[in-house]
Amino acid sequence: MLLHVPQVLAGEELARLRQALETAEWTDGRETVGAQGAQVKRNQQLPDASPLRAELGRVVLAALQRSPLFFSAALPLKFLPPRFNRYTGGGEYGFHVDGAVMGLGQGEQLRSDLSCTLFLCEPEEYDGGELVVSDTYGEHEVKLPAGDLILYPSSSLHRVTPVTRGARLASFFWVQSMVRDDARRAMLFEMDAAIEALRRGGADREAVLRLTGVYHNLLRQWAEV
Ligand code: NI
Repeated sequence: MLLHVPQVLAGEELARLRQALETAEWTDGRETVGAQGAQVKRNQQLPDASPLRAELGRVVLAALQRSPLFFSAALPLKFLPPRFNRYTGGGEYGFHVDGAVMGLGQGEQLRSDLSCTLFLCEPEEYDGGELVVSDTYGEHEVKLPAGDLILYPSSSLHRVTPVTRGARLASFFWVQSMVRDDARRAMLFEMDAAIEALRRGGADREAVLRLTGVYHNLLRQWAEV
């Protein structure tokens, strides 16, 4: 499932984050990938050890905490601290697949179930830079307004097309979900949205309560925590 989560960041918070990135020290993005990624990755990143990356990453995670849509869709268990990248001057990232298991430090690991890209520039500020996600239904091109996020399965092949004008700034990170299976997670998301719509529409309370029970019992069946 590909999901567009609008306005994770907006207004002054987004402006402050962008300003910090525009004056940041960038490094070659190939430093954080394995051999497969290094062959096709042409971009810049904030160094993993940079205090600015840690600080801005906390801003992104705090913003996600305020998004019920993100939580309902991702059912997050763990996050890889958000990273930041910049594509400019023809920079691109060819087709690749994200690593399945990533270190979180102190011996802890994360299984990447979901990949997230948070767009930090408006689409008209740069040419190219589409995120292309290839799944069983074909290729999807994604280029979102500043502050919006796309959530997609980490199992997919994906790429970023060359940025031929301007610069594309984004934050990216991975999520280990409580529900590993994409199809199960998608059903839970649909069910949660339908229950919420019934509740808002003033549906029979007893029936809504029973459906809510089914949602939680399915989650109990499928969640690994
Ligand atoms: Ni990737």
